[in-house]
Amino acid sequence: MHQVFLVFCKWRACFLLWVGVLTLMGFLFGHYFLSGFEFNGGDNLQQRLMVDTSVTFQDEGKTSMNKQSKAMKCTVSLRQRIQAQPQLHSLFQFDVPVLARSQHFSTSEWQRLQHYLPPYGWKGLPINVVSSALMLLNDTANSGLFGERLGGGCIRCAVVGNGGILNGSRQGRAIDEHDFVFRLNGAVIKGFEEDVGTKTSFYGFTTNTMKNSLIAYRSFGFHRIPQEQGIHYIFIPSEVRDYVMLHSAIQGVRVPHGHDKDDQPWTYFGPNHLAKKFKMLHPDFIRYIKDRFLKSHLLKLAYGHVYMPSTGALMLMTALHACDEVSAYGFITDNYRAFSDHYYDRVKKPLVFYANHDMQLESRLWKRLHSLNVFRLYQRTVTT
Ligand SMILES: *[C@@H]1O[C@H](CO)[C@@H](O)[C@H](O)[C@H]1NC(C)=O
Ligand SMILES: *[C@@H]1O[C@H](CO)[C@@H](O)[C@H](O)[C@H]1NC(C)=O
Repeated sequence: MHQVFLVFCKWRACFLLWVGVLTLMGFLFGHYFLSGFEFNGGDNLQQRLMVDTSVTFQDEGKTSMNKQSKAMKCTVSLRQRIQAQPQLHSLFQFDVPVLARSQHFSTSEWQRLQHYLPPYGWKGLPINVVSSALMLLNDTANSGLFGERLGGGCIRCAVVGNGGILNGSRQGRAIDEHDFVFRLNGAVIKGFEEDVGTKTSFYGFTTNTMKNSLIAYRSFGFHRIPQEQGIHYIFIPSEVRDYVMLHSAIQGVRVPHGHDKDDQPWTYFGPNHLAKKFKMLHPDFIRYIKDRFLKSHLLKLAYGHVYMPSTGALMLMTALHACDEVSAYGFITDNYRAFSDHYYDRVKKPLVFYANHDMQLESRLWKRLHSLNVFRLYQRTVTT
């Protein structure tokens, strides 16, 4: 059906049709907001913009320093910086489990998490689906993001969102020099290596966002999600599909039932299906992120139940709770109107605001955490 659609439409019309088609299909719950003023003359504006080469942080790419950093302690680690600031100290809670694993399933946990709908709990999910998925996350490697932590080392992470700010940024080398690189959803790499790098250590998604990305960004060369050796996949358990897909992925079998029935997980995640390749965020972690950092006013609206932090926000928060130093690239900044929605867009289009995310709130959070020196947000000025 999508191919048929593509044959009959071109460029701008095609984009508009896409928005319509994807919305109709229930892509991200069928609601979206476009800020109207951005539609007016967006293309003209783009022509008048010249990208300034000055970048807010550009001291990333010192190879020799980075080679040593693996074994070296951080000068001041992220946790130490947080401990030192009372307003952050009471916000961050490092004892909430970031990842779900087999030990987290028990009768009492099942009862406790019945109080919250996914992604914040297990309400409405079949018990056997949740338990059988979690039981497979029993490898010691599932206990943490990095398996065994290097004692005393400094783990430096880059989290790469898909924002248009990365177009022409030349941050690829700096990104790849981090110990671990997180990517998510439509992370198109081919043809954009100079701007976004090539390395992917973690790929984060919900089954829904992954499959939608494969459809929506296919024409940008996104034929498969990153599958490099040593990659780890981080499932966001947003609905029953994620538990079913995770289970089938680790078992190396076709999806037996439900929305993704007959899908072959190896076409997404590659032939190797060792349990240690797969991780899933813990519902408690997602709920904690929502309650402490991203409690949106959208939650109070009629469709508030569809609200959840964006995939990018959850990946960045995951990194902030696991790494010693974090840099975020391709995330929303104050001047987002100067950039296209994605770095791979062929024509500039405004950032799309979906009703199930609160990008303005996320934007304020990144700005605040950056200014408090918790992590570095890649920002860039443009001059007219
Ligand atoms: C994990 O569970 C699977 C399936 O029940 C089992 O085959 C495997 O031996 C377990 N692995 C560990 C490390 O306990
Ligand atoms: C990407 O950046 C180039 C200049 O570096 C610019 O010509 C092009 O219009 C940009 N693309 C989008 C979609 O903004």
